Amino acid sequence: MRKLKLDELNRVSVPEFKAQEKLPVAVVLDSVRSMHNVGSVFRTCDGFAVEQICLCGITGQPPHREIEKTALGATQSVGWTYYADPLEAVAYLRNEGYIIIAIEQAENSIMLNSFEPEDGKKYALIFGNEVNGVTDDVMKNIDYCIEIPQFGTKHSFNIVVSAGIVLWDFYCKLVVEGS
Ligand SMILES: C[S@@+](CC[C@H](N)C(=O)[O-])C[C@H]1O[C@@H](n2cnc3c(N)ncnc32)[C@H](O)[C@@H]1O
Repeated sequence: MRKLKLDELNRVSVPEFKAQEKLPVAVVLDSVRSMHNVGSVFRTCDGFAVEQICLCGITGQPPHREIEKTALGATQSVGWTYYADPLEAVAYLRNEGYIIIAIEQAENSIMLNSFEPEDGKKYALIFGNEVNGVTDDVMKNIDYCIEIPQFGTKHSFNIVVSAGIVLWDFYCKLVVEGS
């Protein structure tokens, strides 16, 4: 098979991206330490046309050389805001009508395959720090916790991998199956 050339991928421009319909999802990064992880989340959110990213706590902010290494320009397409306190981001998103969901391993979590997002609703998906996960105060202020099942020896996925898995799942359930 012949691989497609860049000009055959038919990607939208940044202004076209800003104007296009979005997946009704906001991604919240709760003190993600690695700038490379932050940049990769931007690139992943661009790929799934996520509405916005809320960067919280110690999460780095663009412009930053290390973020750009992995974002590859996606910091220009996906809109973002910064909140020192992740609870401020949660309050803002709740007020905007988002259902607040921690993506985390927790008691009474719902497995990703069992969660059915509803058409017409908006979802804020909160991802946590590489060591400590989503902060405890945030875990007390969520509507749901979604966990990705794992079958191997490691405790958790890398945060960016977990974002890719969950966003693809939401895209399939809200857009592919919903159409
Ligand atoms: C490396 S993990 C953090 C692991 C940490 N030991 C903890 O206590 O949560 C970083 C982030 O990735 C996401 N994550 C990783 N694996 C996950 C899984 N199996 N289910 C849900 N979220 C996961 C969560 O958002 C988590 O906060």
